[in-house]
Amino acid sequence: IPVELFDYVVFGGNGDLAERKLLPALYHRDHDGQIPEGSRIIGASRTALTDDEYRAFAREALENFVAEKDREPAAVDRFLARLSYRAVDARSDDGWEALKSLLEEAGDNRIRAFYLAVGPALFGDLATRIRTLGLANEKTRLVVEKPVGRDLASARALNALIGEHFEESQVFRIDHYLGKETVQNLMALRFANMLYEPLWNSAFVDHVQITVAESVGLEGRAGYYDKAGALRDMVQNHILQLMTLVALEPPSSLSADALRDEKLKILRSLKPITTANVEQVTVRGQYKAGASNGGAVKGYIDDLNDGTSDTETFVAIKAEIDNWRWAGVPFYIRTGKRLAERVSEIVVTFRPIPHSIFGGTAGHIAANQLVVRLQPDEGVKQWLMIKDPGPGGMRLRHVPLDMSFAESFGVRNPDAYERLLMDVIRGNQTLFMRRDEVEAAWEWVDPILKSWEEIGVRPQGYTSGTWGPSSSIALIERDGRTWHEPD
Ligand code: BG6
Repeated sequence: IPVELFDYVVFGGNGDLAERKLLPALYHRDHDGQIPEGSRIIGASRTALTDDEYRAFAREALENFVAEKDREPAAVDRFLARLSYRAVDARSDDGWEALKSLLEEAGDNRIRAFYLAVGPALFGDLATRIRTLGLANEKTRLVVEKPVGRDLASARALNALIGEHFEESQVFRIDHYLGKETVQNLMALRFANMLYEPLWNSAFVDHVQITVAESVGLEGRAGYYDKAGALRDMVQNHILQLMTLVALEPPSSLSADALRDEKLKILRSLKPITTANVEQVTVRGQYKAGASNGGAVKGYIDDLNDGTSDTETFVAIKAEIDNWRWAGVPFYIRTGKRLAERVSEIVVTFRPIPHSIFGGTAGHIAANQLVVRLQPDEGVKQWLMIKDPGPGGMRLRHVPLDMSFAESFGVRNPDAYERLLMDVIRGNQTLFMRRDEVEAAWEWVDPILKSWEEIGVRPQGYTSGTWGPSSSIALIERDGRTWHEPD
């Protein structure tokens, strides 16, 4: 469905995110005919660049990050013709007049979206100047990348500052995990089928696992990452968002607030982790030298190139949701850099059958598992017990009902940003985080950070290319369970 005419201003327009994700995503939407004639994309940052230099940067970004078969010369040229660039300084008024007059050339009637693809330290300055220097119009939307804050206090301060200048309905706090196809599929699976929902509670679910494993290391982001660490970088946002979607009550509709109200209830029901239990239910790790994707790799400290650091690159947590539906069902979560492979999945393990009629104990019959695979090879597998085919008697086997999305649909899987960038223009906030949600997530994360600090919990080393510190395996095995092995 085509959208209204718009101008997209990307602050950090020549940065890493714009290069790898935003420009390729907008190109794909343009290629598929979703961007109306006359809509413009304006890069902005402190660097002085001409429009042509910016187009050359964008051309290269498309060459590197759009598959060759999707790069039709006419579509690329049409896309590049939409681009222009203005140099602005977030911390002073320099350059803003030129950006403003460029916007005003198009009149006041079109949507103006401002995407803050910059470090969080500049969010406040940019949001303030967009408003006070008169760049916002009636149809303005502000897109804020994560991380929103580095703890509860800074997140509240930033949200308050943004709130002084923009209505909540204009603010789009992006969490790109919500734009991933399989994440949205969780909603379909849960609420467009009769099968799962009656079983989706503590009476039938034994536990849930969420793994977001990466094989990459720092990728040149040491400056940001060393101040953040895995808990802030991945758990506060992506993993907690996944957890809310697994756990929430059926919303009354898919409208933004109906869904976000339910997500908020889950965040508020998270059982607090404090100095009393932080050592039992969390594990911090930091990668050491090892092997990744067939090659030798350095350890975190050597990647930093700068002394020592106690930042965690891995975290595992046994989380619990203290509400009627989930009391007593652990949610084991883990994420890390330089792990054995890149794989993200949500695994719901159902309870064992109550009694075996096949001989042996019921515990010998593997429990049903639902595996929702986010990446790579997106798909859903429902593991069931069946009879082994053949005349050999009643032998049982654990097999998956397997739906690989690539095989079943044969379509290109759109990047999360494609969906989200256009949702901003449509004004649809369903897949964006509301102010109170971000703050509620920090309310749970903050005491974990503080407890680690207070007790002096330091990250344990793990060899690159493994599944993290051995204590993360102990964390789940202590409860008589094991991490699901991705296949
Ligand atoms: C980002 C984190 O939000 O998500 C990165 O800052 C991480 O550290 C990335 O690598 C993972 O995203 P994806 O889509 O590759 O799983």
